Amino acid sequence: MTKTLLLLCFLSLAASGFAHGSIKKGDIKVFELKKGDISLKVTNYGATILSLILPDKNGKLGDVILEYRSLKDYINDTSYFGATVGRVANRIGGAQFTLNGIHYKLPANEGNNTLHGGKIGFSDVIWKVKKYQRESKPSITFTYHSFNGEEGFPGDLLVTASYTLYGKNQLSIIMKAKALNKATPVNLVNHAYWSLGGHNSGNILNEQVQIFGSKITLVDSHLIPTGKFASVKGTPYDFLKPHVVGSRINQLSQSKGYDINYVIDGVKGKKINRAAIVYDKKSERAMEIWTNKPGVQFYTGNYLENVKGKDGAVYQAHAGLCLETQDFPDSVNHPNFPSTIVSPGKDYKHYMLFKFSTEAPHGFS
Ligand SMILES: *[C@@H]1O[C@H](CO)[C@@H](O)[C@H](O)[C@H]1NC(C)=O
Ligand SMILES: *[C@@H]1O[C@H](CO)[C@@H](O)[C@H](O)[C@H]1NC(C)=O
Repeated sequence: MTKTLLLLCFLSLAASGFAHGSIKKGDIKVFELKKGDISLKVTNYGATILSLILPDKNGKLGDVILEYRSLKDYINDTSYFGATVGRVANRIGGAQFTLNGIHYKLPANEGNNTLHGGKIGFSDVIWKVKKYQRESKPSITFTYHSFNGEEGFPGDLLVTASYTLYGKNQLSIIMKAKALNKATPVNLVNHAYWSLGGHNSGNILNEQVQIFGSKITLVDSHLIPTGKFASVKGTPYDFLKPHVVGSRINQLSQSKGYDINYVIDGVKGKKINRAAIVYDKKSERAMEIWTNKPGVQFYTGNYLENVKGKDGAVYQAHAGLCLETQDFPDSVNHPNFPSTIVSPGKDYKHYMLFKFSTEAPHGFS
C-alpha cells in the first residue's frame, strides 16, 4: 500500500470516528479566556463560542451569547449556536457545483440544497487545540484537517479558527484555510447568536441595528441566490441608518424574519470594513463588527422554538440575532460573485473584529 493510500485510510477512519453519535460528552472540552471585564468560553466541538460575558452601563456582567443547557445538546444541534461553520457556510443551490471541469454532488440537508457544509460540517466535528494562551493577550487556536471528499468537497483542507481578547473589550476571530492538494470552495463563518440585552432577556426585536450594506443578494423561495442584487432603499431591509430590529419585520415577504446577505459597502481597496453595529438601549451595550469579507448574513433566529438554554432559559423565535460576515451564499454557482475558490498555494483568511462598549454609538439614541 502506498503512503497516500495509508494516509487516506487513516483520514477516513479518523473522520468516521468523529461522526454524529460516536462523539461522547467527555470528548467535548471547554476553554476560557479572560481579560479585564470580558470573558469568553469556547469549546473544541465545532470551535464554538459558548458564552461571552460583558459589563452593561452599570458594570453589571451579563452573557450576550445564546448557549444550550448542556454540552451534549451541541451534538444534535440544528441551529449552529456559536459554531464555526464550513467547509462552505450558507447555502449551495441544488447541492452541486462544477469546478475545473469536474462536477461535484454534495449531500442535500435542507430540501434539495446543502446548508452550512452538509450533514456533518465543521460545526459538528472535534477540533484540535493548537495553541492556548491565558496570559497578556488571551487566545486560543483550534485546527481541523478536513479530508478529500468530506461532505463531497474536493481536496484536503487544513483549517484554523483563533479567538483572541485584546485592547479594551475587543474580540477578534481569525479563520484560515489552506488547500493541500485540490482547489475547493471555502466559506467559513461564525454563527454566534447575539442578544446584547442578555441571552435570557426575551428577544432582540427592540435592539437597534445598523448594517453598512446598500445592496442585498436576492434569493428565491428556498433562500438560494438568483445571482441578482437589489438596492435596500425603501424596503424593510434598509439598515443604512440604525433601525429597531422589530420595527419592520412584519413587512418582510419571505419567512418569519430577516435571513439575507448584505453586500458590505466600500469593500474594494480597503482591507477591513465596518459591517454592522448593534445597540441595546436598555443595557447600553453596543457592538461593532469589522471584517475583510464582502458580505454579512443578517439572521434573526426565526426558527428557534422551545430551545433549552443555559440558566434555565428557553429560547423562542428572535431570542438572538446573527450577523455572519462571509463570502456571498452559493458563490460557487455564481461567476458574477467574488470567488470563494481556494487553491493550493493561495490561502484563505477571514478576519472578524468585535468591538464592545457601553455607550450609544454615533447616530444611535
Ligand atoms: C443525537 O441524535 C441521535 C439520532 O437521533 C441519537 O441517537 C443520539 O442519542 C443523540 N445524541 C445526543 C447526545 O443527544
Ligand atoms: C427537489 O427537487 C425535486 C425534483 O426537481 C422536486 O420535485 C422537489 O419538490 C424538490 N424538493 C424541494 C424541497 O424543493
